[in-house]
Formats: sequence, C-alpha cells, structure tokens
Amino acid sequence: MSLLSYDNLKKILFKFDPETAHTLAGLGLRAESLCPPLLRHFKEKFFVSDPMLHQELFGRTFENPVGLGAGFDKNGQYITAMPTMGFGFTEIGTVTPKPQPGNAKPRLFRLIEDRSIQNAMGFNNKGMGYMLTQLEKLYFFDYPIGINIGKNKVTPEEKALEDYETLFHAFKDYGDYIVINISSPNTPGLRDLQNEQFINDIFAMAKRITDQPVLLKIAPDMSPEDAIALSTTAVEAGAAGIIATNTTIDYSLTPHAKDFGGISGALLTEKSYRLFRELGKALYGKTLLISVGGIDSAEEAYRRIKAGASLVQVYSMLIYQGPALIKEINTGLIELLKKDGYNHISEAIGADWK
Ligand SMILES: Cc1cc2nc3c(=O)[nH]c(=O)nc-3n(C[C@H](O)[C@H](O)[C@H](O)COP(=O)(O)O)c2cc1C
Repeated sequence: MSLLSYDNLKKILFKFDPETAHTLAGLGLRAESLCPPLLRHFKEKFFVSDPMLHQELFGRTFENPVGLGAGFDKNGQYITAMPTMGFGFTEIGTVTPKPQPGNAKPRLFRLIEDRSIQNAMGFNNKGMGYMLTQLEKLYFFDYPIGINIGKNKVTPEEKALEDYETLFHAFKDYGDYIVINISSPNTPGLRDLQNEQFINDIFAMAKRITDQPVLLKIAPDMSPEDAIALSTTAVEAGAAGIIATNTTIDYSLTPHAKDFGGISGALLTEKSYRLFRELGKALYGKTLLISVGGIDSAEEAYRRIKAGASLVQVYSMLIYQGPALIKEINTGLIELLKKDGYNHISEAIGADWK
C-alpha cells in the first residue's frame, strides 16, 4: 500500500467532519490539477480506456461509462482532476443563478455502518458567474462534462422557470449536456416542480434557448408509474435523457438516519435500482438513461446497464472506497461483458429488454 493510497488518505479525512473532509479533498484535487506529472501519474493509474467501453453520445466520446454524480463538484473546480480518479465524464453543479450559502450546518453526515451518506446541503454554490469563469479557464479538456442546474432557494416556485431560463442562457455554449435538477429534497418546494405542466414548460423553453442536450434528473421517492409518466412527458417535450435517481427521503431505511436531507450510498442501491429498472422497461430505446444511486461494484453497474443505462454515475461510494472503485467498475465491466459474449457495451445496454 503506497503512502498515497486512498485507505491511508481516508483514515485522515474521516477524522474530520464530513464537510471539512470534502473541502480538504477538494484542495488536494485542485493542487493536483496544477501539477501535470501528478495528473499523468493518477490518470495512468485509475483511468480505463478500452474500445469495448467507448461510446459516442451527445456528439462526444465517452471513453468509459462511469461518471461522477452531481454535487461533489458544485462549482466546477475539479474538472481537470476527475479523469485522474478514473471517471469517464463528470457532472458539475448543482449551480444556481446567484451564489447561495445552502442550509445551516451540520448538513452532511456519514452513516458509516450503512456505507451511506445523508446530506441536506441545499445547493450551496458560488453561482453561475463563478462556474462560468471555471469553464472559461479550461484551456483543454477531452472528456464530457454535464452541467446540473437548479433554482435559487429564495426564488418562489412560480418564478422558478425564470431561474432556469437564466441558466440555459448562461451555459448554452458550455459543457456537453445540461441537467434540470428538480429532484433535490433540500430546497423547499423543489420536488413539487416534478409535474407535467412544469416539465412541458421548461423543456419548451430549453429548446428555444439552446441546442444542448437537456436531461431531467428524478427522485427515487416516486411510484414507478409516476416516474414513468413524468419521464415520458419529459422525453415527449424534448428531453435528451433521464437521470435516475437523486437521494431518498425514506428515513425508514435505517435507524441511523436523521429526519431531514437525502440518503445516498448503499442504503439507496435497491431502491434506486428498482425504480431504474421500471424506467428502463418503459423507456429503453426511447431516450438515453443514466443510472445513479448506491452503485458500488461492477456487478451493480452492469445490472443498471442491462436494465437500460448507457451511463452510470457514482458519488457516495467514491467517499468510502476511493478512485480504485472507479477503476474496478470499469475493468469489471469489461470482464462481465466478455463473460456474456459481448464485444461492446452497446450490446449489453438494455439487454434485459431485448
Ligand atoms: C453530499 C451530496 C451532495 C449532492 N448534491 C447534489 C446536487 O447538488 N445536485 C444533484 O443533482 N445531486 C446531488 N447529489 C445526489 C447525487 O448526485 C446522487 O444522485 C445520489 O447521491 C445517489 O448516488 P450515490 O448513491 O452514488 O451517491 C448529492 C449527493 C450527495 C451525497
């Protein structure tokens, strides 16, 4: 085990409260970004690029299907470092038009016995102006970036569309896809926007402003029927894809849960899979599906892929297992594909429904 191993780093980081640990990890990633030899070292160590996993989506090459889930890089400060953690793409944000502090601390908790995380961050971020300067600074990057957008907490629900309009204008020439986030449990009233009228309005507006692919991210706390209906409405209104799922507010999953915020990680795995599978059954072949929620192994990622996911995302398990997990998922996927006699990931996507 090298001094720089994640096990050693985790021992140090877990001595701090989760938010301080996140800030420290972020400082490390930003320092790494300034040091090309380190970037090269870690990319060689963790990044998997195999033709079996390459996909052309949204007009870009995804060298592997494992991306970073939104919320880790809320301000777009770690974009350069993410391929060195093994990720084939990243999703930055959620970003709001104006900067905002988020909810009162403490608002981030480790549920260690459950290999899970509970957060009530509330879109703490530096606002779209700051994120734009981060994106403008990128002189060269060769992997896909999603931009996840949300409304400010102070914006009333009836003016929510205006926030999204501002954000579509701001980011229309940046990144490779945009995600409408109305599924966070930590902005009061946000999930109420998961209704047909709002979905129709927001995608119609997006189409007028930008040619970027726009995706919808949904919550896991809907019935499959509601999730399918909402997602179908989104696809008919022009959504380029669905991301399922965000964190859950099902606090009955563990006795260790707080009664606020959203749970992610191992506790979410089954719930997220079950909803994703229903979505896959209904929508595979009709739109692009991204699965996220408690993915902790190649086998779990493969389950999502066979249920219809073209891409998967990981957040919580990165905290528990480090970048070796991302490499393990990618190399494991290649093995699983070969075992099933597939030559390319595209043959396995939606295999449950073929
Ligand atoms: C601390 C934390 C902050 C998050 N912030 C966001 C966010 O700003 N926007 C968003 O769409 N999802 C956010 N998420 C949700 C993740 O992107 C992901 O959907 C969810 O955690 C399930 O995946 P996981 O089990 O791999 O973590 C956040 C998750 C965590 C743990």
